[in-house]
Amino acid sequence: MAQQNVIVMGTGNIGTEFMKQVALNDAPGLGRHANPTNIIGMANQDGWVHTPGGISIQNSPRLISDIQAKDSGLVAEGKPRTAMKDWMRTQPEYKDGANLGELFEEIKRQGLIDDTVFVDLTAKDLTSFHGQVVESGGKIVTANKIPVAQSSLDIFKLLTKFRRRYGFSCSVMAGAGAVPFLRDAFDTNDTVESIEGCFSGTLGKLCNLLHEGKITFSDAIKQLKVDGDTEPDPRDDLSGMDVAKKIVILARTAGYKVNLEDVEVEPFVPGGFRELSTSSVNEFMAKADIFDQEIAGKFAEAKKEGKTLRYVASLKVEDGKPIVKLGLREEKLDSPLGSLKGNGNKVVVYTAAYSKVPYELSAPGSGAHITAGNVRRDLLQLLPNREM
Ligand SMILES: NC(=O)c1ccc[n+]([C@@H]2O[C@H](COP(=O)([O-])OP(=O)(O)OC[C@H]3O[C@@H](n4cnc5c(N)ncnc54)[C@H](OP(=O)(O)O)[C@@H]3O)[C@@H](O)[C@H]2O)c1
Repeated sequence: MAQQNVIVMGTGNIGTEFMKQVALNDAPGLGRHANPTNIIGMANQDGWVHTPGGISIQNSPRLISDIQAKDSGLVAEGKPRTAMKDWMRTQPEYKDGANLGELFEEIKRQGLIDDTVFVDLTAKDLTSFHGQVVESGGKIVTANKIPVAQSSLDIFKLLTKFRRRYGFSCSVMAGAGAVPFLRDAFDTNDTVESIEGCFSGTLGKLCNLLHEGKITFSDAIKQLKVDGDTEPDPRDDLSGMDVAKKIVILARTAGYKVNLEDVEVEPFVPGGFRELSTSSVNEFMAKADIFDQEIAGKFAEAKKEGKTLRYVASLKVEDGKPIVKLGLREEKLDSPLGSLKGNGNKVVVYTAAYSKVPYELSAPGSGAHITAGNVRRDLLQLLPNREM
């Protein structure tokens, strides 16, 4: 049996869904398959729980579902998720106020580094933590883009150097195969000539809702946030920075020296959010209707010409230099990107080998269910002696 110990960092939307999926499918006690996942730790900003034999909640999918329902109710009321935190506080092993550095030291002290995967389901800059784990010979799977997109190129290379120790597929397209394809292209010396795509399920869904014309921009954002389809602060989606991070990750994976500052970003909302840049998330949500008219006008214009709008990211190579851009673009309704439905994502890659017919990949975009499922897939890639 090839059992994998994991520590879940982040007990929010994705973290809780991940734990539910493990409880339903992979927990050691289920005896469902040859490669069970054993959750031995979970952490948020308030503290952590570490139980070397496995945390009891992984045997209670029903309890996790109840916690999820409670937390969704809180989010719908504009409150933070606290249900999982409350449960963690009831555990005898709970360390109130302890941080990830202390958890890492505990894992090291117990000699569990080689035997544990840290799963980063936070949205915080944990780059130095990732570096610490990787340099100590440990393993990480991350859905958090920050350590691979916002770090220097040297750090990116350090983190991603060992395939069997660092899984970052879920940082782009929620873990569909874009990262592995580009990684293999790089490894086989197949030059990537261009990358183009829609990488935000949130913005794709928003575009489709606005194209239908039945809902305003501000109401659509509220709906997506309540459904858990946006980043914790929806401005991170709308500013384009979330997509910018994804194209940087893809460009770097393909071997290009690209930093976030090199990306020409046109935000979803023209001119950005100067008016609301210092507001809290709740204030922003309450005032987002100031953009309704202008955005509805753009979609109506495109519709008149049989087109729609898509938030497109692209990398093109000009004179050997990668040019990376993103912004709203008109697309014909029957084009590869214009025809995307729902929150669909698509990537189109031309390489020296794929020069006539591109590598194309469509996948569902955002969503806790898909992301958590693909985190589990990424974990399997790191498992030595994986059995079938
Ligand atoms: N939504 C999607 O479809 C999707 C797809 C791909 C990737 N992702 C990525 O998945 C990640 C998680 O998203 P989410 O929606 O689950 O976020 P979320 O609901 O805000 O949860 C974030 C969690 O991270 C914890 N956290 C923050 N800083 C921490 C620290 N220093 N140590 C330990 N825990 C910490 C938070 O704890 P507190 O509650 O104590 O602050 C919270 O539990 C993000 O990076 C996001 O970009 C999301």
